[in-house]
Parts: sequence; structure tokens; C-alpha cells
Amino acid sequence: MPLAPSPSEVVSALLAPKGLRLQSVELLQSLWAGYGQICRITVIPDASPSSSASTSKTGSTSNSGLSTPQDSQTYILKLITPPLTKADDEGHTRKILSYQVEQYFYTHLAPQLPPSIPVAKYLASMNEAHPNGTVTTAMVLNDLKQDYPVAGEKRDVLNRTQVHAALDWLSGFHGFWWARIKELDRRSLVRPPLEEVTHDGEDARNKTVWLNGGYTYLATRRSEYANLTKDYDAEWNEPLTDWEADEFSISDLVAAVLSPKQTGWSPTQDYMTLIHGDVKSENFFTTKSGEEVVFYDFQYTGLGLGVCDLAKLFTCSVPLNMLVDKTPLPRELAMQDGEKKLLERYWTRLQKEAGKDYDWHIFVGHWESALVDWLRFQASWGFWGNTEWLEARVRSILKDEKWKDAVVGNAKMAGLWSEKKDEVDPMILLGGTYEDPDDLRRLGGPLNIMEANSQLRDL
Ligand SMILES: Nc1ncnc2c1ncn2[C@@H]1O[C@H](COP(=O)(O)OP(=O)(O)O)[C@@H](O)[C@H]1O
Ligand SMILES: [Mg+2]
Repeated sequence: MPLAPSPSEVVSALLAPKGLRLQSVELLQSLWAGYGQICRITVIPDASPSSSASTSKTGSTSNSGLSTPQDSQTYILKLITPPLTKADDEGHTRKILSYQVEQYFYTHLAPQLPPSIPVAKYLASMNEAHPNGTVTTAMVLNDLKQDYPVAGEKRDVLNRTQVHAALDWLSGFHGFWWARIKELDRRSLVRPPLEEVTHDGEDARNKTVWLNGGYTYLATRRSEYANLTKDYDAEWNEPLTDWEADEFSISDLVAAVLSPKQTGWSPTQDYMTLIHGDVKSENFFTTKSGEEVVFYDFQYTGLGLGVCDLAKLFTCSVPLNMLVDKTPLPRELAMQDGEKKLLERYWTRLQKEAGKDYDWHIFVGHWESALVDWLRFQASWGFWGNTEWLEARVRSILKDEKWKDAVVGNAKMAGLWSEKKDEVDPMILLGGTYEDPDDLRRLGGPLNIMEANSQLRDL
């Protein structure tokens, strides 16, 4: 196969062994920076005498041996033919790795999902490494438009039915993987782009999904964050980047709590699941009634707390009137009824799907941390969506001293102060401050405190 094969060359190579022949190709869109394309392809059973379909006993050719237009079927081809990775180009490396992650998702993880959590099925896929170091990746997926004709992208906000359906899909997806996440080999997870590309000696083909799902987490947005720390006129400069505990900002602390770890203990490890990583209305279709959704675009799937997917959904795709009762919004806003109802719906279904318990207070602590982290990304990258709501919520969260204490305690337990290991006295760290049962619950419950204590003693 050439370095940059055309869609028809790829489809022909992939589908001929399945007894299918390409009839037409329609370009849907070019991928980021011209790295490839997404096409809708129409295929028909190949009825020529030499084809595998005409000789196969299970082939679906008609009795006459001739294919009719009714036999034709549409699929989606995602074809990626990127240039060579430059080791220090974070955006480029992130993109290249993301296509491998998506391919792993469709070929290994998606087939495990039950029909109640619909995703596209793959018909064929290829991953061909070239001598010059580039890789051609291709996936042929079933065409979701047939059963889910309504594109979420048509509106910047969804209606109530669609929001509920999207939430239900997410609680199903997160709950399903929450129950199974321990089966994923942590060594196979893809680290942040710049770490991954400079880390030699490991075979990229044995990689699975991102260690940290999504593409907005702090470890991968250091340069944008550095700009925010220097932007003294920005409202969020001080609250998000000033030192909060020793030399760490609230952004560092929150990131340490939310980040999945490859080795060692973390205060959120019991709640880790697989997240979609790019949850927005542009990445799902719905049925005509809006009662069922199907998500696609799994390039940023990886470990994370489910609430990180929700933070983006609530900010970017949920109508403001589903989150708050009245506008204009005050400068600081506690959780309103609408937001709470949506969270409760998700939280109830998540636990049911996973067969696990998630204490409401811990859940809310995680949710509020996810909102702060999401705001940190928007404040350093650019705002869009329900900006006013997000900012007002975070102003209120940052004033909550209990939440802050819990975050600092969790970040310490997560090892953020690792370079000061010798100075840490675990009994001081975990004693005194956390006598209030609410604090204990937010920190992860007594079991986690004990686990943390023993971990810290071993330092
Ligand atoms: N399985 C599918 N069925 C139908 N359309 C699809 C499918 N996968 C992707 N698409 C279409 O291709 C577009 C881009 O796909 P996506 O995976 O979101 O890539 P991108 O990274 O460019 O956002 C989608 O907006 C959608 O219209
Ligand atoms: Mg997309």
C-alpha cells in the first residue's frame, strides 16, 4: 500500500476479502490539518466469479449471481494518513496517538458493550507502519445515520429529551467500565503526548487507551496554563494560578486529585472508569424522537472520573434553563435544582449499571473539582458554552473551605508533595483536620483514609 493511499484503495483492500466491492465514495470531511478524511462509502456484494463472496457458502449474493442496488450498504471510512511525528510537537503527537486510541476502542472495547449502550460496530480496520516511520490507520464503521438520523451538531443546545438520553448513555458507559476497569493493564495506557513520544523502548502497538481520558487535563495544557499565570489582568489569573498550598495552585491540586495514575495509590482510584473524553452535541446522533443517542469520536477515551465528561456536556451542550431557574445569574452560584436533578439522574443510573456505591457527597466533591478543572482549561484556552454559569459555579466552589480542605488533603495523599516525602508525617496529614464526618466522606470515606495512611507510612 502506498504512503498515502486513497479511500478507494484502502476500502478495496479491506473489503475484498469480505466479498464486498466498492460502489461509491462520498467525502464527508477532511480531518484536522489534512491528516486524512472521513467518507461515506457504498459497497455491494462482489458477484464476480473470482470473488470470495460468489464462492463462499455464506456469501450474501443473490441467486442470479448479480448484485442489485438493494444489496448495497453504506459504511463510514475514517482514513488517517498523517505526516511523520515531530517529537516536540504536542498537538501533532496528541492527534496521532488519538487515532490509535480510537482504533483500539472500536476493535477491542466497543464489541464488549451491550446493545443498551450503542456505538458503531467496525467492519474492518488496518494499521500499516511504513519504513519512513509514518502509519496509515483506517477503520470501516457502520453508518450510524441509518438508525440515528438526527445530528446533535445542528443546534448548539439540545432539547430536554436529548439531554436525558445523552446523560443515560453516559451513565451506562461509565457504569459499564467502572465495574470492569481493573481488567485494563495499566502499563498499556497511553501517557500524555510529550511523555509518550520521548519514552522509548515500548511498542506503540501494544497501547490501548489514554491513561488520562480527554484532552484538556493540566498535564497536556501546560503551555496554555503558563500563559494564564502571566496574564495578570485576567479575572481567573489569581484564583486559579496563585499558590494555594505551598507552591501549588488550586489548579495543580485539583489536577492531582482527578488524574489517574499508572502506578501507586490515588484518592480517586476507586471511582475511575473509562470516559468518552470529548462529550458534546457534535459527537453524537439521536433517533428522531431524541430518546436514544449514539456517541462516536472516541479519540480521547481513557481513564477518568465520569464527572469530567459531564462538566463538558453541561457547559457546552445543556440549555442553561435546565441548569438554573432564573437569569441573570448572580456572580456566585451554588448548585441549583436543575443541575442537581440532572446529576441525580446520572448518579442513580451509574451506580445501578456498575453495581457499585458512590457516596453522594464524594460524588459532588468530584463533580465540583471537575468543574474547576474544566474552567481552568477554558480560562486558559478560550470560553464557550454556558460560560456565565460555569464561572458563577466555580466562584462559589472556590469559596467553600471544606471543599478546598478536601482537595488539599486528597492532593497530598495523591503524592503531589512527593519530592518532600521525608517531611510528610502521615499522622499530621490525616489527623485533626478531618474529624467532621462530612470531610471524611468527601475525602473518600474511612476505608480510603486508612489505605492512604498505610500508603503514606510506607513512603
Ligand atoms: N459511524 C459513523 N456513522 C455516521 N457518521 C459518522 C460516523 N463516524 C463519524 N461520522 C461523521 O463524521 C464526522 C467526523 O467524525 P469524528 O469521528 O467526530 O471525527 P473528528 O475528529 O473530525 O471530529 C462526524 O461529525 C459524523 O458526521
Ligand atoms: Mg468529532
